Amino acid sequence: MTVTSPQFEVKVITTKEEYARLVEVLWAASARPYNPVFTAVHPINGHTPEDRARDKALDTDIRWNAHEKNPSSHLIYVIDKETGRVAGGCEWLIFRQNPFPNGPQPVKCTWYPEGTERAEYAEMMLNQAFFARQCWFQRPHAGVNAMGVHPDYRRKGVGRLLMEWGHEIIDPLGYESFIEGSPIGRWLYESCGYRRVMGLHVDFDKPNPSDEWLRLIHECKPPGILLLWRPPRGEWTEKVPPGPWAVTEETFK
Ligand SMILES: CC(C)(COP(=O)(O)OP(=O)(O)OC[C@H]1O[C@@H](n2cnc3c(N)ncnc32)[C@H](O)[C@@H]1OP(=O)(O)O)[C@@H](O)C(=O)NCCC(=O)NCCS
Repeated sequence: MTVTSPQFEVKVITTKEEYARLVEVLWAASARPYNPVFTAVHPINGHTPEDRARDKALDTDIRWNAHEKNPSSHLIYVIDKETGRVAGGCEWLIFRQNPFPNGPQPVKCTWYPEGTERAEYAEMMLNQAFFARQCWFQRPHAGVNAMGVHPDYRRKGVGRLLMEWGHEIIDPLGYESFIEGSPIGRWLYESCGYRRVMGLHVDFDKPNPSDEWLRLIHECKPPGILLLWRPPRGEWTEKVPPGPWAVTEETFK
């Protein structure tokens, strides 16, 4: 699959070293503006330059290993053809079979030690965010994770190129696509044929929260999560029901 523009080229990431270059960009993208969801779902164990370097290396290890075990995962990045810099990247998930044959399953945090409040917090967020997908999409479909473009390269069409890469694969297959998006990502997705079908408020309340839990809520409380859906080929015809929950085997025949 080749998606290019005069300035940029989309490439599939095939080595951990390439992925480490994307991790640098995703961390930079998440800082401007500060993204509380990113903080919860990545290992952040300190704030000195040494901590940052260690945490990025750990993040690279954990996610690269998960990617290698998951045949549905495709990591891609956009290279500036003139300078060789990585401008942005994302993970496309292309599920060619039902990924949830046993219904919704708990999502595990693998980047903080089990039993810690940080792990519990991340799991609480991810379980609520992914519950709708796990209920509604018990069929082949696609999704996008970890979308980020370096602040130096925003509004130059990099995000759109990353989206086009996946659509070129899934459109001939007739797959729907679904994204748990943030208010910042929303405009990119909507410009690529997605529409919001629901907004999600993630609930972190518990009785008698510890100081650590209150700190997590302060640092990592997500804004409303938007559930964005794109029917096959982005065609919003009269056949398209109000949301993916209402799709039957006959809907897109
Ligand atoms: C969201 C993000 C990936 C967009 O990347 P990008 O390369 O700047 O997006 P593009 O230049 O391809 O934009 C394509 C279209 O999306 C829309 N769009 C993108 N960013 C927008 C913004 N900030 N405001 C309004 N519309 C926007 C526009 O319609 C744009 O087309 P146009 O520039 O011709 O008007 C980037 O802002 C980013 O990395 N943000 C921080 C990380 C993040 O929030 N990721 C999303 C997680 S769900």
